[in-house]
Amino acid sequence: MPLPRHAFFHGSIVPYSEARVGVLTHALNYGTGCFGGIRAYWNDEEQELFVFRPHDHFRRFLESARLLDMTLPYSATDLTDALLALLRTELFREDCYARPLAFYADESIGVRLHNLTPEVSIVAMPYGRYVENEEGVHATISSWRRVDDNMIPARGKITGSYVNSAFAKTDAQRAGFDEAIVLNSDGHVAEGSAENFFLVKNGTAVTPPVTDNVLEGITRRSVIELLSKTLGLPVVERSIDRTELTLADEAFFCGTGVQIAAVTRVDHRPIGTGRLGPTVAALRELYFDVVRGRRPEFRYWCHPVYADATPIPARDENRRSGPGA
Ligand SMILES: Cc1ncc(COP(=O)(O)O)c(C=O)c1O
Repeated sequence: MPLPRHAFFHGSIVPYSEARVGVLTHALNYGTGCFGGIRAYWNDEEQELFVFRPHDHFRRFLESARLLDMTLPYSATDLTDALLALLRTELFREDCYARPLAFYADESIGVRLHNLTPEVSIVAMPYGRYVENEEGVHATISSWRRVDDNMIPARGKITGSYVNSAFAKTDAQRAGFDEAIVLNSDGHVAEGSAENFFLVKNGTAVTPPVTDNVLEGITRRSVIELLSKTLGLPVVERSIDRTELTLADEAFFCGTGVQIAAVTRVDHRPIGTGRLGPTVAALRELYFDVVRGRRPEFRYWCHPVYADATPIPARDENRRSGPGA
């Protein structure tokens, strides 16, 4: 993967080579950071790059920072502006992915969350698919359990907890599967290694509630709205037993990276027909139209990079959040 040319670092945009940390950095040693993953989609007809739900991503980013006791000197709007400025500097005219990171930057020994100084960086790079086969993922139930709210809060994107995701992903891929489905400590389905999970059964979509130790995904939230409002499918948030996977009609992962990926087999058992089903196919089509700004009713989710003039509608959720407010 080519390195980015620039980074937002120490409050301004600098050459990527200047965005450096020392080996003693607290977050590097102890996982005391949090991050986000935001996609921007190129729309060829409009010659415009649209960032998908940047305020919502940055609100969750700030909430993850709060979980780590961080006081950041930025609002969701400040961070959106920084991302837009970065993308304009990079002059991307293709799909890309942005990675904001807040991390304790102190170069000191000592495990704690207090009396430390956070820093924020953002980088962006061209990006395509996260999983090769979005139309038919073969998943396995991982032997690793999802981190619990009383261990490392699963609802936030905390860097240290991604060791849990990495164990699940590597073991799944080494065993020949595309992805892992991770159960929580209760034995219920939580999510994929880095994506939320839905199944479809008898015309209803089911996804684990946010209290089942899943990341509070922005794509998950978008999908609930797309399924219920546009595709007319009721969505139920409830715990999912592992054997419900075998009996589901369809299933899919969703997330910024994975986008919408059909899960068509779990541990060699087909889900439904074992092929991309009609609901996931329709959802994928709708989702890719929405993220490229082609659906007027969801256009407010897409923030244009190059057309400065289009403001994000003022909403409560765009207010400064976090203890630094
Ligand atoms: C563990 C985990 N679950 C779910 C998701 C999906 O979240 P989002 O839709 O906000 O990208 C991600 C991230 O990308 C993740 O890392």
